Amino acid sequence: MYLNPEEEKIFNGERGPTFQKAIEILTALGDIYGADRLIPIKSAQIAGVSYKTIGEAGLEWISDLKGKVAVPSILNPAGMDMECWKEMGISQDFADKQEKIIRAYEALGVRTECSCTPYNIFDNLAGFGDHVAWSESSAISYANSVIGARTNREGGPSALSAALIGKTANYGFHLDENREPTILIKVEAELHDSDYGALGYIVGEMAGDRVPLFKLSSIPAKDELKSLGAAMAASGAVALYHVLGVTPEAGKYEIPAETLTIEEKQIKDVYSSGEPDLIAFGCPHSSVGELRKLVRLLNGKKVKKEVWICTSRAIKNRHPELIRKLEKSGVKVFCDTCMVVSPASERFTCMMVNSGKAHKYVPNLCGVKSIMATTEECVSAAMMG
Ligand code: F3S
Repeated sequence: MYLNPEEEKIFNGERGPTFQKAIEILTALGDIYGADRLIPIKSAQIAGVSYKTIGEAGLEWISDLKGKVAVPSILNPAGMDMECWKEMGISQDFADKQEKIIRAYEALGVRTECSCTPYNIFDNLAGFGDHVAWSESSAISYANSVIGARTNREGGPSALSAALIGKTANYGFHLDENREPTILIKVEAELHDSDYGALGYIVGEMAGDRVPLFKLSSIPAKDELKSLGAAMAASGAVALYHVLGVTPEAGKYEIPAETLTIEEKQIKDVYSSGEPDLIAFGCPHSSVGELRKLVRLLNGKKVKKEVWICTSRAIKNRHPELIRKLEKSGVKVFCDTCMVVSPASERFTCMMVNSGKAHKYVPNLCGVKSIMATTEECVSAAMMG
């Protein structure tokens, strides 16, 4: 892979070991995947934040780095709400370690907002055609598919390396030829709200890492596209999809010959019922529209079960009245974290979710049984003692 003279200097250690390591990581990836050069990025979204997932080794690695990121960079959810961690049942020891991780990123110039929906916090991180280095799978999917920005499935270290250098290797989804759809998904059902997460749950398993092009009979809202992409990235490895008539690049390519048809019954089969001891919303982090919907469904009534809503701190701070109404209903609103990456959910036995992504991850990553239900069913379950 070609490096310009400035990049060569970094590669040779002239800016110190942190930048040298960062460019080594980028060039190693570029060489593996056949990149021709490094390209500038507009922003980075960095995973590897929760102490639950990175542990002591990750904390040490980040703490040893010296320097400042070159582009706006934001963090993925951490293992706890950075303010209400006691309410989550997080131990002092975990909280101390988590705090150290956040401070280590902060010292590198990374913004300490911890969210998988950075596009709902800042407008200027990614626009159509921008190259970015994002690493949370649902955020990657949203950036590529809904915004039309360009990112590969970065890991935490490669996203941080890209943030430090301000560049990433030019391969994969940065190139037109890899953004072409490879499988057509015809959906013969009217979809609504969590149905998109259920659809993503099914299609991700079938599509693997291919690029689906959807032909839908309903027009999804942005939150529904968020759910669809998140679920496909969890049950499969889909990092980019298109929806005919909806997403910005869908009309640019030929319709693929290979076709899958999804019927209503398959969507309904993802849902089930049961006796949850935790009902959790906000995977990916709830938007203001989703919070409003929950306020409407709760209608001022008190919940009788443990109910969590995960959202970004920015959304919480911007909408205190909504949060007050939710909390008045007995719901716990947690920021900076989520039901999957926090160890706090591990003390429950059965979690009800309206998210295809959470439904996929909760059993494996939290050791907790998962039930997928519609948003309305989740709220009804929360009202039952
Ligand atoms: Fe976000 Fe956690 Fe779901 S990081 S996408 S809320 S698993």
